[in-house]
Amino acid sequence: MKYDEFLGLLKYRRSIRVFKPEPIPDEYVMKILDAAHYAMSGANSQPWEFLVVEDRRNREKLYQAYLKDFDMIYHLEQQRTPKYKHPAFKMRVDDRDEAIGKFANWKDAPVYICVLEDPRKMFGSVLAARSDFCAASHSILATTMGHLSMTIQLAVASLGLGSQRVDVFVQEPYRQILGYPEPLRLNIIVPVGYRTLEPGPPHRLPLEALVHFERYDMKKYVRSEDFLKYLGKIRKRGKRHGSPPASNK
Ligand SMILES: Cc1cc2nc3c(=O)[nH]c(=O)nc-3n(C[C@H](O)[C@H](O)[C@H](O)COP(=O)(O)O)c2cc1C
Repeated sequence: MKYDEFLGLLKYRRSIRVFKPEPIPDEYVMKILDAAHYAMSGANSQPWEFLVVEDRRNREKLYQAYLKDFDMIYHLEQQRTPKYKHPAFKMRVDDRDEAIGKFANWKDAPVYICVLEDPRKMFGSVLAARSDFCAASHSILATTMGHLSMTIQLAVASLGLGSQRVDVFVQEPYRQILGYPEPLRLNIIVPVGYRTLEPGPPHRLPLEALVHFERYDMKKYVRSEDFLKYLGKIRKRGKRHGSPPASNK
């Protein structure tokens, strides 16, 4: 693959948050997972498993469990000064449905890939011995799962589909629905389906502001007193693609 093609794929992969309900070809799911399981992992521990959910009733149960999680995020984000609220949460404090429409609108995706992590596979690895079974191991597990998440999303994009990562914050409701044992944990849910829109390349900060040569360039350092300005900049420029198309409203 040429660099330009690779860059094109990276720009095409976006967090897609609204999906057409139509099914995707059967073989796509295994193609995505085949690609995903080549992701790099600490000490090649491969601390992941995949639980594919296609049954409508099971998807609905997962989605409803997520909405309960979502309430916590929603109410926390409402504590911020309006200017610095996440773009998906800029609404009247009591307008939770609007936030769901923008941020948690993935329910129609025909496939949910539930990504499980098995901490034993990470903590039992040589890397964990070196990092003293402590916080570093947890961070290596989280980083490893992040690599996996990106690999899944790139595979999805390469098939012309859309996906997002849905982070979960509590385990018990999902454990009951999906039946995975301790000490496995649900890391993320990845809804996958046809895109309802093509958002185009993502907004990113200018590369020259991020790159240093030979020695750190203090002119590029974001000082604490400028930090709110920085936050405002990414909040203002960042576009979200969760809103349903006009016909769905
Ligand atoms: C660690 C991590 C956690 C994320 N969690 C969520 C999430 O729970 N829900 C969501 O809609 N997007 C989530 N995202 C997606 C980011 O919001 C998104 O990547 C970012 O806004 C850039 O947009 P893009 O993915 O379209 O390039 C997460 C991304 C990362 C890397």
